[in-house]
Amino acid sequence: MRRFLIFVFFAVVMNSAAAQECPQIANVLGREVIPLNGDWNFIVDVQEEGYYDYRMTTTPWGFFLNAKPQKPEDLVEYDFDSAPVMQIPSDWNTKDDRLFFYEGTVWFKKSFDYKKPAGKRAFLYFGAINYKSIIYLNGKLLGKHEGGFTPFNFDVTDYINNGENFVIVKVDNKRSKENVPTQIFDWWNYGGITRDVYIVETEDIFIQNYNFDLDAKSRSQIFFDITLNRKTASAKVEVSIPELKVKQTLVSDRNGTVLGSINANSLVLWSPENPKLYNVELRLGNAVINDQIGFRTIETQGKQILLNGKPIFLKGISIHEEKPNGGGRANCTDDAKTLLSWAKELGCNFVRLAHYPHNEFMVREAEREGILVWSEIPVYWTIDWENPATLLNAKQQLSDMILRDQNRANIIIWSIANETPHGYAREQFLAALAKHARSLDTTRLISMAMEVTSASNYVNRLNDNMNRYVDVISFNQYIGWYRDVNDAAKMTWEIPYNKPVIVSEFGGGAKYGYHGEKNQRWTEEFQENLYRENTLMLDKIDGLAGTSPWILKDFRSPRRVLNGVQDYYNRKGLYSDKGEKKKAFYVLKKWYEGK
Ligand code: GCU
Repeated sequence: MRRFLIFVFFAVVMNSAAAQECPQIANVLGREVIPLNGDWNFIVDVQEEGYYDYRMTTTPWGFFLNAKPQKPEDLVEYDFDSAPVMQIPSDWNTKDDRLFFYEGTVWFKKSFDYKKPAGKRAFLYFGAINYKSIIYLNGKLLGKHEGGFTPFNFDVTDYINNGENFVIVKVDNKRSKENVPTQIFDWWNYGGITRDVYIVETEDIFIQNYNFDLDAKSRSQIFFDITLNRKTASAKVEVSIPELKVKQTLVSDRNGTVLGSINANSLVLWSPENPKLYNVELRLGNAVINDQIGFRTIETQGKQILLNGKPIFLKGISIHEEKPNGGGRANCTDDAKTLLSWAKELGCNFVRLAHYPHNEFMVREAEREGILVWSEIPVYWTIDWENPATLLNAKQQLSDMILRDQNRANIIIWSIANETPHGYAREQFLAALAKHARSLDTTRLISMAMEVTSASNYVNRLNDNMNRYVDVISFNQYIGWYRDVNDAAKMTWEIPYNKPVIVSEFGGGAKYGYHGEKNQRWTEEFQENLYRENTLMLDKIDGLAGTSPWILKDFRSPRRVLNGVQDYYNRKGLYSDKGEKKKAFYVLKKWYEGK
């Protein structure tokens, strides 16, 4: 009985002192941060014994304690300090051959020294962890997070030591029906602390988030709202945009909010041709946040998409978040520069960052380079539509995506789903997501990748009840690949909605360097012919405002097992997994030159 009580005591204590996950701190890269990237020790824990240990010992167990034997007879069956090391941020699949296919729990530990400045707050910030994580600091539970592609942070002011500290993270990338994404998806289930980790230092009262928008009608007024971390009235916030000779001092209201506007007559608008960014400085007390913000408007008019009031055709390509050299999750500016240079070589002004929010470096590099972005949450295929927890999870990921990137001028579309089977529950779920997105951001376009519902006698019809919830009608079609007719040019389309149309995916597979007749599957000639036929067909679609063919680069997928051809790669890339251009690349490039 005594041992049982000890068990209960530890279980309660270890889980009660939880900090709360705080609202996302925006633009951490513009603040005082201490990176915790680098060497982390890791322990693979297939049966999660480090969490669900049932041994009744008096020595505290649980990997989160980083326990050490105190006496020679003490039994502690783990030791992080002698465990292997992994460079963080990274996925574990490409860092350790034993973990290539691994789906389960891995524990990570990082020790660090910290000098605690008086009167400041400290936050532990993760750019993303895939998929579920439990975070502990100095043996105390901070909290749990679910969702593999958006940032989150904890206030650790009362948990962090002046001196030595250790953070321990339990990461679990197991798939399951109620997750977002659900248990089937056509990309590699990269697990781990896949993006940067920081300690973010702030004043006691600080600017949590902010949003700047150019008025869509006049394009001569910038409206902004700034949110403090507390409902604090009368806090003085200074907003300056030196290049516009703007310097305003405003006072927060009792909700800790500052609202204001800026006359923007002399503004140079952000555009792909001239991706103008302004340095915006936000000052509260001694703290200064710098951001580089572009101003533009995006709207639809009938079947056109208007950027800064002028029609634009989105010459796009879809991209998964993988390093250009095939080595796992992309997670830095260098990765972004290479991938975006390939898209620009193709002639793109637009990228569909599929099927989940990509890292912030990718979005910001695209913004600097004048590349428009479609950003998406992983509500993909057969989601558990009737599960309230699943809807909450999807909404949280949607909020986190928007809150992180709401000041990025190049993001023009928030996508709430990809290829979801029709049905009442699906429509209720997605309608709630569309409504939620609009409650957070009224300035961008909402879309989703629909599926083609019917086709006969060369006539394709799109018929999706979700049409009334989106601003742009987007759909994926695979004529010539999944439908065995590679004569797409004869196809016509009936899309009965007076909204712009984006073909968010089309394409086919080819193994780089495999050549033959154009009807021979997997040859570069087959893919080349498919692009020829499809681009001829696209030219006939009334209201086509853009396309983002599938896909820039071959990417890893556990669903693509044809040995000698796929070898766990989806081969629909216009570039091979080694960055080699296939013949279809030149067909699309030429087509875009004509746009
Ligand atoms: C689907 C899906 C992609 C997938 C692609 C394919 O349209 O959206 O995620 O990779 O088809 O089958 O290659």
